[in-house]
Amino acid sequence: TTVEWEAESYDMGGHDTYMHKEICEQPDAVDRVLRGRIDDRFSTVHLGGLNLDAREARGVRRVKILGCGSAYHTGLIGAQLIEELARIPADAEPASEFRYRNAVVDPDTLYIAVSQSGETYDTLAAVQELKRKGARVLGVVNVVGSAIARETDGGVYVHAGPEVCVVSTKCFTNTAVAFALLALHLGRIRDLSVADGKRIIAGLRKLPEQIAEVLSGEEEIKKLAALYADAKSMMFIGRVRGYPVAREASLKLKEVSYVHAEAYPASELKHGPLALIEPEVPTVAVLPDDDLLEKNRATLEEIKARSGRILAVAHQEQEKADHTILVPRNEVELDPILMGIPLQLLAYHSALALGRDIDKPRNLAKSVTVE
Ligand code: AGP
Repeated sequence: TTVEWEAESYDMGGHDTYMHKEICEQPDAVDRVLRGRIDDRFSTVHLGGLNLDAREARGVRRVKILGCGSAYHTGLIGAQLIEELARIPADAEPASEFRYRNAVVDPDTLYIAVSQSGETYDTLAAVQELKRKGARVLGVVNVVGSAIARETDGGVYVHAGPEVCVVSTKCFTNTAVAFALLALHLGRIRDLSVADGKRIIAGLRKLPEQIAEVLSGEEEIKKLAALYADAKSMMFIGRVRGYPVAREASLKLKEVSYVHAEAYPASELKHGPLALIEPEVPTVAVLPDDDLLEKNRATLEEIKARSGRILAVAHQEQEKADHTILVPRNEVELDPILMGIPLQLLAYHSALALGRDIDKPRNLAKSVTVE
């Protein structure tokens, strides 16, 4: 399906910033990426522009996802989804690194370039290098007809609509959903059961409403942002599903509020970054209710023992945390999608409290079309 972008999408629609408008548009944006793609009969999805038939999809031995910044972070989520649902080994790498390291290009690997603008030079250069070496490259792109959309062999449009704010929000979320669709599609061609296909589809359908529920907690998040606005630096942690969310939230905070932030896999804290923990360096912990929750709680205890303040994002109140932002439950595979939303609002309200230029952060451009 093709979704036309209407001129009025550029209107601020009563919001003070594009960032706020775009955060609030997410229930509709997610609805758009799902629209016309779900196939209940076979518990799968149809992705019209993929150009990868079932036989070719079965022949894929590895998936390598390339992108920059937030696009790379959606790639980390996408790789986990593809491994979980399709059981194909998958990983993500910054396109900017990949293009410089003379990577081995393997004919059985499916390469996926991710980009909101479709014009990011490093990602485009990686695509061109891959094509030159005969690789099959798909695009997961927002801007229809952009350079990356044109140069890839096929792909999935993200249908987030125009994203004006330099800081990506709705496109991040929609791209993560697009990866869930792709993972489900590849999974159902391979070994994902009908029951699991149904379960993921039901979860995807719940997302717009659940995102709206998270957004309705904005006032509470605004208060939390004010409480943590004095931080000299912020640590973001998560394990497996929570980790890409932590990375993206840390980037969001840095970009828009200029507060220094770091993201670490929770297990890595004890290998060094724990030395930074003190009351002025709070931790945001992303805690899906999966098999790693107990391990994550133990990490919170280690932080508390060093007088660190903790803001948790979880499905239920966390005893060890100073504050918890509650996120509704969905299927565990889809947790990264929902858990990123309140952290966009946290970054937004931190920037607002600090008086930053939200839609045009200093030193940044919406798309980096140069080397
Ligand atoms: C996101 O908030 C950033 N402004 C930035 O990291 C961005 O995601 C990156 O430059 C990639 O852009 P693209 O998606 O248009 O390729």
